Amino acid sequence: MLRVAVCVSGGGTNLQAIIDAVADGTITNAKIVGVFSNNPGAYALKRAEDAGIEGCCISPKDFSDRSEFNKAFLAKIDEWEPDLIVLAGFLVIIPEEMIARYRNRMINIHPSLIPSFCGTGFYGLKVHEEALKRGVKVTGATVHFVDEGTDTGRIIAQKAVEVLDGDTPEVLQRRVMEQAEWILLPKAINDIANGLIK
Ligand code: GRF
Repeated sequence: MLRVAVCVSGGGTNLQAIIDAVADGTITNAKIVGVFSNNPGAYALKRAEDAGIEGCCISPKDFSDRSEFNKAFLAKIDEWEPDLIVLAGFLVIIPEEMIARYRNRMINIHPSLIPSFCGTGFYGLKVHEEALKRGVKVTGATVHFVDEGTDTGRIIAQKAVEVLDGDTPEVLQRRVMEQAEWILLPKAINDIANGLIK
């Protein structure tokens, strides 16, 4: 049984997709053992609570320096003894020590077809604003392993989504979530849980 810890900062629709996929059998051999957030107002924490999953919120703002937060963050994650860490809209820089300890056991969902529209500063709506500004006809989402870079780890899976005339960043974001993110992330977790991805 793959022990999965999910890190969130916002609305948690990707977390909800994972919760629902475990419930309906799209994901097998896996259990969400904890949900971590840096943001006390993250609706994702309510989603975890409603699903009976332990949630924990520790904010960098609660510490005088980042190294103290990093220590508390890593201690909480280690306590859950996860086999896999999933970053699902997590807007905190991952401590190098955690990347090293969980190398090839930490994945991230990014709302573009990497290497387009990724890297420092590309998160949330900004990604879709830039895609629309560039005028691409196809965008999508990417699941990748996390390494020391920003959105630079080994790509696991991608799914393309059409950009339509008149799209706003919000409309495009929602389509990428519905047609790509909420499908890719549960499938990647299931594939890892069942030994289909190493
Ligand atoms: C998603 O668009 C995801 O691609 C990005 O952050 C957003 C998180 O949304 N990494 P949610 O919190 O899962 O609804």
